[in-house]
Amino acid sequence: MPAQIIDGKLVAQQSRDALAIEVAAFTAQTGVTPKLAAVLVGDDPASQVYVGSKQKACAAVGMTSELHRLPATTTQAELLDLVARLNADSTVHGILVQLPLPSQIDPEAILDATHPLKDVDCFHAENVGLMIQGRPRYLPCTPHGVQVLLASADIATEGAHVVVLGRSEIVGKPLANLLALKGPGGNATVTICHSRTRNIAHFTRQADILVAAIGQPNFVTAEMIREEAVVIDVGTNRFEGKLVGDVAFAEVAQKASAITPVPGGVGPMTIAMLLKNTLTAARLQSR
Ligand code: GUN
Repeated sequence: MPAQIIDGKLVAQQSRDALAIEVAAFTAQTGVTPKLAAVLVGDDPASQVYVGSKQKACAAVGMTSELHRLPATTTQAELLDLVARLNADSTVHGILVQLPLPSQIDPEAILDATHPLKDVDCFHAENVGLMIQGRPRYLPCTPHGVQVLLASADIATEGAHVVVLGRSEIVGKPLANLLALKGPGGNATVTICHSRTRNIAHFTRQADILVAAIGQPNFVTAEMIREEAVVIDVGTNRFEGKLVGDVAFAEVAQKASAITPVPGGVGPMTIAMLLKNTLTAARLQSR
């Protein structure tokens, strides 16, 4: 039987609808409208699309946003200067510096400089540390989006063997940690595979839930998964003029019990979770 398709677009919409009600109540109570400041350096077309979607989503839930566009030649000092101004601006609750940054800028220096309370990406070392210790201030957007998607499809992580392909700071590493935490959406047995893993298929075939986040089109094939596995595709790759994931969707969907499509799977969830963090940020800064 073909797999259940987990509809991230729908779940993200439901999450935004619920959030819009919370934002309205917060603003009525405090007079504060949550605001996200997005920073885009250079003119990478994919980044422009992502940032545009983030701004649109803010408006849809009653938040405001501002976009700071800087040229690709921006120096690290110039970007640090902008971050310092946004840190000091009390009308800005969340700061999002779109990655990747041009090579002359060290992303860690920028993430370290972002005020931890305004770090709605959950990239700052303080917020990552709090999350890993099981006392999160913010939850990382894409990893938490994966958790919410699994819950929406009634897929339990407790006791499940989750194999995460990829150890990036944005997805693989925080997701593996989140899934291993005690509590709802966690309690999983987690294996991380990466570019130096020998015989990746040996591990992927043992996964109850396989998460692909490596950025290689069609990497996960049907023979790499076990019958009835759940497959979550975090990949967003341009391939032959189309947006495709890391999973060979057509063949894997014949063998899996549930699968996320690309586009329309994890992607929309990332933005929905960013909005959630921005409301949390406004709450934390309005006390
Ligand atoms: N680039 C790719 N994903 C993300 C994300 O979640 N946040 C930011 N800031 N940049 C990204």
